[in-house]
Amino acid sequence: MPETLRVELGARSYDIIVGGQLLAHAGEYIAPRLKSRHVIIISDETVAKLYLHRLTSALEEKNIGCRPVIVAPGERTKSLEAFSGLMETLLEQKPDREATLIALGGGVVGDLAGFAASVLLRGVDFIQMPTTLLSQVDSSVGGKTGINSRFGKNLIGSFHQPILVLSDVSALATLPKREWLAGYAEMLKYGLISDAGFFAWLEKNAGAMLAGDAKLLTYAIVRSCAAKAAIIAEDEREGGVRALLNFGHTFAHAFEAETGYSDTLLHGEAVAIGIILAFRLSVALGLCPEADLKRILSHYEATRLPASPLSIRPKWNIDALMEHFTRDKKTKDGKFTFILTRGIGKAFIAENIEKDFIRAWLS
Ligand SMILES: NC(=O)c1ccc[n+]([C@@H]2O[C@H](COP(=O)([O-])OP(=O)(O)OC[C@H]3O[C@@H](n4cnc5c(N)ncnc54)[C@H](O)[C@@H]3O)[C@@H](O)[C@H]2O)c1
Ligand SMILES: [Zn+2]
Repeated sequence: MPETLRVELGARSYDIIVGGQLLAHAGEYIAPRLKSRHVIIISDETVAKLYLHRLTSALEEKNIGCRPVIVAPGERTKSLEAFSGLMETLLEQKPDREATLIALGGGVVGDLAGFAASVLLRGVDFIQMPTTLLSQVDSSVGGKTGINSRFGKNLIGSFHQPILVLSDVSALATLPKREWLAGYAEMLKYGLISDAGFFAWLEKNAGAMLAGDAKLLTYAIVRSCAAKAAIIAEDEREGGVRALLNFGHTFAHAFEAETGYSDTLLHGEAVAIGIILAFRLSVALGLCPEADLKRILSHYEATRLPASPLSIRPKWNIDALMEHFTRDKKTKDGKFTFILTRGIGKAFIAENIEKDFIRAWLS
């Protein structure tokens, strides 16, 4: 049975529906929420080949016709060039303000389509149908949309909440193993930030869940989305506690930048490594018991998550990493703000971390 989670954001509230075989029933969930029958699906080539037909058939059953727009898979599609092409293609379909865009795919499609929806005719409705674990637990929730610039990732964007998120866990069956684990790192993050009980649940159930058990996936995805939604309800536009969601991310972004945002290191893999470094740094600062770090490391071994940057590259340029930390938007007045932790489920925002300490600790 699908589960529904309501994200409470006043007039912008919406449902997240998670379960198996939802694509085949998508029409039932989508039709009542549309302002008009004008629907445009945006997907990437890989996902479209696998699942577009299921979605268009489900919509046709409710007499909703649609012309899909298919983009190339991969991060390069989140470029200004690809975005401008997409906008012209969308406008060719003569949408009006009551049209709805549906993003069918991973975070790349979700970010791109969401941003397109936020500026098309000054804003139209959009629905997220995430098909990667990462997008089901993270990028489809929260309303951040955007594309990349040559100056950095996600620098052009907007806040635009979807009107519905439909996460079909059955679609994960075709996801490559690496993408599973990358998404799992973000799921694990919620337990480690503020929900020790969830971490304990994952210790017990991650094996069966990552093998594709729909019931366990539904439970864990809903719990992850609830954790993210609770933080966002408190801080929709990242003034305060939303920064906690960046646990492990200052490190992750630096490693990603150093590897050129390439297939060498997926975002979730970088996050997995960043989380361990945040724990190690917290232990080094005397904030966090070492036993908690050890417990997490054994879970990493069991699930085969990467734990060390040295498993990606034998040597990293410390100056370059420091440079990335400094440029990270969470840096204030020459001192670092890191998300650190007092133990499993006890992350907090730590300001005024001395640069020299970090440099010495990294060396
Ligand atoms: N908006 C946010 O809050 C937020 C949060 C986290 C990440 N992001 C963004 O999300 C993006 C990463 O998302 P992602 O990890 O989903 O990557 P992605 O969208 O590139 O998908 C990964 C790969 O898997 C393929 N794929 C997708 N679903 C599949 C399926 N069911 N079966 C087989 N293959 C499938 C895709 O075609 C792609 O090649 C990044 O651009 C990142 O910046 C945004
Ligand atoms: Zn992330």
